[in-house]
Amino acid sequence: MGDARMRTPEVSDGAAVWSLLSEAGLDRNSPYAYLLVCTDFAETSLIAEDDQGPVGAVAAYRPPTRPEAVFVWQVGVADRGRGQGLARRMLHEVLALPANKDVRELTATVTPDNEASLRLFRGLARDLGVECREKPRFLAEHFPSEAGTHEPEHELAIGPLPSESP
Ligand SMILES: CC(C)(COP(=O)(O)OP(=O)(O)OC[C@H]1O[C@@H](n2cnc3c(N)ncnc32)[C@H](O)[C@@H]1OP(=O)(O)O)[C@@H](O)C(=O)NCCC(=O)NCCS
Repeated sequence: MGDARMRTPEVSDGAAVWSLLSEAGLDRNSPYAYLLVCTDFAETSLIAEDDQGPVGAVAAYRPPTRPEAVFVWQVGVADRGRGQGLARRMLHEVLALPANKDVRELTATVTPDNEASLRLFRGLARDLGVECREKPRFLAEHFPSEAGTHEPEHELAIGPLPSESP
């Protein structure tokens, strides 16, 4: 998997990013949401491809209320690419994107039982030599009961990331 190529997505990647992230077991959102990811949020997001096609994706944006941060909404890797460091490399690559060069904090939410995801973000903090702080963000009761039960989502905040020299 060391040879997966990474790039920012385009509108024509929206359908594949939707398939990949839905099949990774994340919440199934509308295809339209991924057209937004691949257009309005493309500069801060990423798609990884190997010789079989898309193998990983990161949907991320700069929250208007917290512009110093990049929020990783979703990160997913197809089964064939898992356990080889691809997600970790994608997060490093997200931080290296030109549109994220002034980012001081990477945030994400995880359900407390998602061991792989917790290890991914804690490992990123370790790589960067910064803290990974955790606190409640969305409670189970914030989610609509009609949609079934949803676990709470805890926020992880990784930083402070070093300032780039001008
Ligand atoms: C979470 C996910 C993106 C990790 O992708 P990946 O490319 O396999 O992860 P990496 O190989 O970069 O590993 C990152 C860390 O996670 C750990 N990890 C990976 N898969 C794991 C698993 N199934 N169980 C426990 N830990 C796991 C690795 O050991 C590594 O931690 P370490 O450095 O402390 O050893 C992938 O499992 C996935 O797509 N899961 C479903 C979607 C999801 O839950 N996304 C996160 C919430 S948005």
